[in-house]
Amino acid sequence: MLRPSMARRIYLFLLVCFCASHALAADTLYQGDSLNSTNTLVSKNGLFTLGFTWLGSAESNASYLGIWYNNDTSHPFWLANRDKPVPDNSGVLALDGSGNMKLTYSGGDLVDFYSSPSSTTNLTAVLEDSGNFALKDTNSGGQLDYLWRSFDYPTDTFLPGMKLGINHASGQTWSLMSWLSDVVPTPAGPFTLEWDPNGKELVIKRRDVIYWTSGPLTSNTSFENIFQNTGLLDYSFINVSNADEDSIMFTVSANQFTPQDQRNFSMWQMKYDGNILDNVTSLTYGGTSCKGNNADAGCEKWSEPSCRSSRNSFELRRGYFVNTVPTKSDDNSSLSISDCKDICWNDCSCSGVTTIGNNGNNTGCTFFYGNFTPDLSGSAIQYYIIVGQVTSGKKKWLLIILAPVGFVSMMGLAGLLWYLRRRRLRASRLVEFRD
Ligand SMILES: *[C@@H]1O[C@H](CO)[C@@H](O)[C@H](O)[C@H]1NC(C)=O
Ligand SMILES: *[C@@H]1O[C@H](CO)[C@@H](O)[C@H](O)[C@H]1NC(C)=O
Ligand SMILES: *[C@@H]1O[C@H](CO)[C@@H](O)[C@H](O)[C@H]1NC(C)=O
Ligand SMILES: *[C@@H]1O[C@H](CO)[C@@H](O)[C@H](O)[C@H]1NC(C)=O
Ligand SMILES: *[C@@H]1O[C@H](CO)[C@@H](O)[C@H](O)[C@H]1NC(C)=O
Ligand SMILES: *[C@@H]1O[C@H](CO)[C@@H](O)[C@H](O)[C@H]1NC(C)=O
Ligand SMILES: *[C@@H]1O[C@H](CO)[C@@H](O)[C@H](O)[C@H]1NC(C)=O
Ligand SMILES: *[C@@H]1O[C@H](CO)[C@@H](O)[C@H](O)[C@H]1NC(C)=O
Ligand SMILES: *[C@@H]1O[C@H](CO)[C@@H](O)[C@H](O)[C@H]1NC(C)=O
Ligand SMILES: *[C@@H]1O[C@H](CO)[C@@H](O)[C@H](O)[C@H]1NC(C)=O
Repeated sequence: MLRPSMARRIYLFLLVCFCASHALAADTLYQGDSLNSTNTLVSKNGLFTLGFTWLGSAESNASYLGIWYNNDTSHPFWLANRDKPVPDNSGVLALDGSGNMKLTYSGGDLVDFYSSPSSTTNLTAVLEDSGNFALKDTNSGGQLDYLWRSFDYPTDTFLPGMKLGINHASGQTWSLMSWLSDVVPTPAGPFTLEWDPNGKELVIKRRDVIYWTSGPLTSNTSFENIFQNTGLLDYSFINVSNADEDSIMFTVSANQFTPQDQRNFSMWQMKYDGNILDNVTSLTYGGTSCKGNNADAGCEKWSEPSCRSSRNSFELRRGYFVNTVPTKSDDNSSLSISDCKDICWNDCSCSGVTTIGNNGNNTGCTFFYGNFTPDLSGSAIQYYIIVGQVTSGKKKWLLIILAPVGFVSMMGLAGLLWYLRRRRLRASRLVEFRD
C-alpha cells in the first residue's frame, strides 16, 4: 500500500508534469485566466517564457513575474515587479472577467497593468515571438492596437523591436536601469541607458552623471563607438523623430556568415557594473572600459579629488592587501559596486574595494587602505584597485604596484643596486691596489 506522503508526491509529480505540458502549449491568457507560480506561458517559437521566478539572492524568498530567454531564469530580461517582489510563492497574474490585468498575491494587489474602462471587452494577453507580452482587445472592431505591452516598460534589457527614447504622445520615457548587483533587481541600480534624440546617441549615466556615450548614430548600422563588426549578424538601427516620438530601436538578421547554430537574436543588458552586454553574442560596450582617467571610446573622465591624477585608474585584479592595515566596511544595502568605487576614488587613502563577502546580495562595500600584492596564480579574490602612484598633500602617500610595472621596476632597482655594489667593490679594490 502507498503511504499517504508517497501518494501525495506522485500526485504532485503528475500535477507538475501536467502543468509543464500544459504550459508548453500556451502563449495566451484569455479573459478569466490566471497564471500562478506553477505554470508559465511560452511563446510560439519556444524561445521566451513568462512566469514566476526566484532570483539568485540567498537572503530572500522573493519571487518575481518575469520573461526570460532560452529557459534561463537567472536573469529575466523583463520583470513586472522589480520594485515590489512577491514575498513568497503566492503571486498570481490575472486577466479578470471585468477586463483588468493585474499581479496579486496572498496579501492583496501588487501591480495593476491595465484596467478596462468598458465592460464589453474580450481581452487576450499574448507572449509574442519577439519576447513582448502584449494585451489586446479582440472586441475593438478590427482595431488591434496594444492596450498595454511589456516592451513599453523595459527593465534592464533592450531587445529587437523595443524602443529607447521618449513617447511624446504619452509623455513616457523608455530607458533601461541596471540591477543593483548580479542578484538584486531593485530599480535602484546605478546605471541607466538612455537615448539622447538631440545628439542622436545612446548615453549611459551613473547616478545621473554621464558615464559613457555611444557617439552619434553614423549610419543605420553603427554608432561612433559601437562597432558590430563581428559580421556574424547584421544589425540595423532605426531612429524615429516625429511629433509622436523620438526613439531608437534595432533589428538583427542573419547574413551569409551566420553559423547555422547562431540564433538570429540579440539582447543588450545594462549590467550593474556599467557594461552593456549583448547576452547572445557576448559583445560588450561602455562600462568597465571606463576606468576613471580615460576619455577614449566614449568614456567620460571622472571628476577627481586633487589627490587623484590622470595616472590613476581602476583595475580589477586578483591579489592580497597587507593584513595589518585595517579595512573599513559600509553595509548599506543600497550601495552597488560602482558606488563603492566612487567612494573609494574620492577617499585619498583608499586603495581598493570589493562588495564580495558583505552579504549574500553582493551589495555594500569593503574598503582597503594598505599596499596591494598582485597574485599571478589566479586563485586570490578579485578587487577593484586604484593603480598608479599617488601622493596626497595631507594624507600619507601610498604606492600601488602594478604587476608588470612593479616587476620591471624591481628588476631595474635590483640592477642598479648590483651596479652600485660592483662599483663600490671595484672602487674599494682600486683603493686596495693604490694602498
Ligand atoms: C495554480 O493554479 C492551478 C490551476 O490553474 C491550481 O491547481 C494550483 O493549485 C495553483 N497553485 C498555487 C501554488 O496556487
Ligand atoms: C525562506 O523560506 C524558507 C522556507 O519557507 C524559510 O525557512 C526561510 O526562513 C525563508 N527565508 C527568508 C529570508 O524569508
Ligand atoms: C526549454 O525547456 C523545454 C523543456 O525542457 C524544452 O522542451 C525546450 O526546447 C527548451 N527551450 C529552449 C529554447 O531551449
Ligand atoms: C547570459 O545570461 C545568463 C544568465 O541569465 C548567463 O548565464 C550567461 O552566461 C550570459 N551569457 C553571456 C554571453 O554573458
Ligand atoms: C473572445 O475572443 C476569442 C478569440 O480571441 C474568441 O474565441 C472568444 O469566443 C471571444 N469571446 C467572446 C465572449 O467574445
Ligand atoms: C541602411 O542604409 C542603406 C544605405 O544608407 C540602405 O541601402 C539600407 O536599405 C538601409 N537599411 C535599412 C534596414 O534601412
Ligand atoms: C535619424 O532619423 C532622421 C529623421 O527621422 C533622419 O533624418 C536621419 O537621417 C536619421 N539618422 C540616421 C543616422 O539614420
Ligand atoms: C530572424 O528572426 C525573425 C523574427 O524572429 C524572423 O522573422 C526571421 O525569419 C529570422 N530570419 C532568419 C534568417 O532566421
Ligand atoms: C545608503 O546609501 C544611500 C545611497 O548612497 C543613501 O542615500 C542612504 O542615505 C544610505 N543609508 C544609510 C543608512 O546610510
Ligand atoms: C537582499 O535583497 C533582498 C531582495 O532585494 C532584500 O529583501 C534583503 O533585505 C537584502 N539583504 C541585504 C542584507 O541587503
